[in-house]
Amino acid sequence: MNEPILKIENLSVDYVTGETLVRAVDRVSLDVKPGEIVGLAGESGCGKTTLAKAILRILPPPAIITGGKIEYRGKNILEINEGELRKLRWQKISIVFQSAMNALNPVIRIGEQITDVILAHKSVSPDEAYDRASQLLEMVGIHPIHLNSYSHQLSGGMRQRVCIALALALEPDIVIMDEPTTALDVIVEREILNQIKDLQARLGFSVIYITHDLARLLQFSHRLAILYAAHIAEIAPAQELQENPLHPYTQKLMRAMPSLVPSEVKPETIPGTPPSLASPPPGCRFHPRCDRAIEICQREKPPLVEKATNHLVACHLAS
Ligand SMILES: Nc1ncnc2c1ncn2[C@@H]1O[C@H](COP(=O)(O)OP(=O)(O)OP(=O)(O)O)[C@@H](O)[C@H]1O
Ligand SMILES: [Mg+2]
Repeated sequence: MNEPILKIENLSVDYVTGETLVRAVDRVSLDVKPGEIVGLAGESGCGKTTLAKAILRILPPPAIITGGKIEYRGKNILEINEGELRKLRWQKISIVFQSAMNALNPVIRIGEQITDVILAHKSVSPDEAYDRASQLLEMVGIHPIHLNSYSHQLSGGMRQRVCIALALALEPDIVIMDEPTTALDVIVEREILNQIKDLQARLGFSVIYITHDLARLLQFSHRLAILYAAHIAEIAPAQELQENPLHPYTQKLMRAMPSLVPSEVKPETIPGTPPSLASPPPGCRFHPRCDRAIEICQREKPPLVEKATNHLVACHLAS
């Protein structure tokens, strides 16, 4: 199998405010292979966005990366200088946020915003950049006539497609998408996801796709990582995870998704709430909500172990 293009190892990120320390990402390891769509799922506040921003080192204070490494093509992103970082961001790894569509400049035409990005990074003529902008819009399903439009003239879905076009403008190796369709209706969401998948298959970039919608991720990703309270609970290929979820948290997440349970079965809610990351429980962080917890779960953090090919789980019951 291919070597990973991105290797996150034991990454920890803390938010320190006054006396409080919140470790939002705690010794997380995850890799991404070329051309792979890796889904990242987990309840609100479990550290998904923090992890995504750490990869590009765009975390604002009070966040501090306190441990681990993030290797892109063998080079630790956490150690490269500002110049190298500038070359990496957007050209090699780009990102689309949920709110990206609101970040488009309202007074500059769409075409100019895309050509600006291309001209800033590539040695091409303005005409070539404009042609490329036109192709990019077509790629994401927008008629090039909208090169002349302003963002307020486009629907939310179209604006988010423009942001995806911008993220692809410099042909990056990895595109991180942090809930890019959450603000859109389900039909537009499905169209955009299909389009991303087509583009991904055609252009071969890798995707890290973040959402709390597990059902959506199972359809869309090649492999999934389930985060719980800043820890990785389980990592597995999509089909394997769907057929054989090993972590009680993953199992409960699945039973909570209306579209994943048979229509005659009522989706179950997961009792309780995720712990505060300022004072997480010892041992397995899921144990207070786990109906199968045993004594060891309360005191020892379960290691992430490989239970089947490429299927890793952090649960004492599984190991
Ligand atoms: N600016 C901040 N200052 C202090 N703590 C923060 C800050 N941003 C995030 N956190 C903490 O980090 C944890 C992880 O936040 P993060 O935004 O990464 O979660 P998430 O999984 O992306 O959640 P969501 O699904 O709601 O987007 C949160 O529980 C929160 O307590
Ligand atoms: Mg988030």
